[in-house]
Amino acid sequence: MKLAVIPGDGIGVEVTTEALKVLRKLVPDLETTEYDLGAKRYNATGELLPEAELAEIRQHDAILLGAIGDPRIVAPGVLERGLLLNMRFQLDHHVNLRPSRLYPGSTSPLAANPDIDFVVVREGTEGPYTGNGGAIRVGTPHEIATEVSINTWFGAERVVRYAFELAQTRRKHLTLIHKTNVLSNAGAIWTRAIETVGAEFPEVETAYCHIDAATIYMVSDPSRFDVIVTDNLFGDIITDLAGAVTGGIGLSASGNIDASGTNPSMFEPVHGSAPDIAGKGIADPTAAISSVALLLRHLGRDEDAARVERAVEADLAARGDAPIVTAEVGDRITAAV
Ligand code: NAD
Ligand code: IPM
Ligand code: MN
Repeated sequence: MKLAVIPGDGIGVEVTTEALKVLRKLVPDLETTEYDLGAKRYNATGELLPEAELAEIRQHDAILLGAIGDPRIVAPGVLERGLLLNMRFQLDHHVNLRPSRLYPGSTSPLAANPDIDFVVVREGTEGPYTGNGGAIRVGTPHEIATEVSINTWFGAERVVRYAFELAQTRRKHLTLIHKTNVLSNAGAIWTRAIETVGAEFPEVETAYCHIDAATIYMVSDPSRFDVIVTDNLFGDIITDLAGAVTGGIGLSASGNIDASGTNPSMFEPVHGSAPDIAGKGIADPTAAISSVALLLRHLGRDEDAARVERAVEADLAARGDAPIVTAEVGDRITAAV
């Protein structure tokens, strides 16, 4: 297995170290190439994602990423857009897969709820993320800024199709989350994609929620969700909430997937570089380790993926309220896989 590793910034570096311990144990022939992309590199050289480096990254089977962005030393947006989104867009990571499960022993505020188990299929290449917009008359009282949300039939159809296929393998229930009562132009594309693709999946029941109401249900009745499909921005927001209700953002894994298989997919925790706890060795590496499980499953190593999931599950069940020590969690889970 040839893996490109981008530890990135802040706790990204700390949690990636632990994720690699687990992966090395399961994949003895693992070949890693590390890329020092991120805040320090940018400040030293001005480079974000050089073309030659991306070409090299493309030659790998998959990418493992920690987190990108350090608002303490680089202005917000520079690295996020120039490196992370740039990579997701250039590698056509149109499916941003973000599963959430409430594990036994979890410290979730909803811990009494026995069966929270859903997957958010977040569109990854469109919406307001594309950088389509601009600002004029900056600094004057007449300043205007636009961030145009791009929604294409092509983009919605393919991610909705992925979500139906996934729902077909699970509890056969798919919820579209949007804001069709206000964003009705984009909403029409998404709704029609559900209707059109849904005709091919008669066994999958569909539901619809506005994003605002969805935040209520995610807290009050999360077990209603099986597969959720949504646009890039709503998906970003709802998956941080999903993390919070299933034991904390330190547990949420993700895969940025090119479902066509043309480009390597990229696996990373949902969380960011957490400057508030970086360097202290107290970040939870579980999200990064669970991202390794998604990576293994993506590469067809289902049994290895299941071993990681079982080890994570056992660790969470045994953990209690003990404070997190990043390296110790990594060592424990590595020993258990
Ligand atoms: P964040 O996810 O980094 O942190 C939010 C809160 O969650 C903080 O209190 C942090 O301490 C806590 N947290 C996050 N991960 C944790 C973990 N593994 N264990 C324990 N606690 C954890 O979000 P933010 O503070 O809004 O963003 C910080 C930087 O990270 C910004 O530059 C942002 O753009 C970037 N970011 C990057 C990614 C990514 O690379 N995919 C994702 C989100 C944010
Ligand atoms: C995430 C992050 C990114 C996003 C940022 C850092 C660009 O919040 O991966 O969820 O909004 O997609
Ligand atoms: Mn996010």
